[in-house]
Amino acid sequence: MISQNHRLDQQLIEREDHYMATAARINYYDLVIDHAHGALLTDVDGNQYIDLLASASAINVGHTHPRVVKAIQEQAAKLIHYTPAYFHHQPEQRLAERLAKSAPGTDNEVVFGNSGSDANDAIIKFARAYTNRQYIVAYTDAYYGSTYGSMSLSGVSLNMVRKMGPLLPGIVHVPYPDCYRTLPHETEHELALRYFEAFKVPFDSYLPAEETACVIIEPIQGDGGIRKAPAE
Ligand SMILES: Cc1ncc(COP(=O)(O)O)c(C=O)c1O
Repeated sequence: MISQNHRLDQQLIEREDHYMATAARINYYDLVIDHAHGALLTDVDGNQYIDLLASASAINVGHTHPRVVKAIQEQAAKLIHYTPAYFHHQPEQRLAERLAKSAPGTDNEVVFGNSGSDANDAIIKFARAYTNRQYIVAYTDAYYGSTYGSMSLSGVSLNMVRKMGPLLPGIVHVPYPDCYRTLPHETEHELALRYFEAFKVPFDSYLPAEETACVIIEPIQGDGGIRKAPAE
């Protein structure tokens, strides 16, 4: 923060408190953004901030990037929206092709959704339908979103699930292999083997492997604490 003056911010937030549900907020800081460019945010009182959050990585190219602004303005004047479920249009076709080609593997196909949570729900649906198997393995401390499917895959916060159950059945959580949690003198390879033993426990006791549709893992956990799994 470069300067400090919060009168209008405070007034607007006090007024908002009457209408905006607190359940919909993770209140990091009382900041009412007026405009932003690059990495700088300016609030309604004129204070400037360096933005290290980038709207949860949704704005990783920087705020109001001229190419993004131009593309949005041009497209908004032509066609704002038409669901690709019903008709075709070129922006949707171009994006699908670029996404399919940039993802790992070959012969990828794209389904558009509304959010990260929706994407993770889709993983559950596709994996179950494609394999004809029901169980999904996920990891402790994972975060996948706030729909019922993605909440059920998650394992990071009691506040997310308290009073919300029952969650989706058939999801088993195993401990996340966390490179930060090595034992004294333990190598990364030994850590990987130790966590793999824990991974196998359900399969040895109550989880039939032949009924398991998929394993879903974050290579680096975000909300779980920026924790990295061993590549192995
Ligand atoms: C790792 C991860 N997965 C899924 C989500 C859920 O995405 P969304 O909020 O778009 O539903 C988020 C974001 O909050 C996330 O950080």
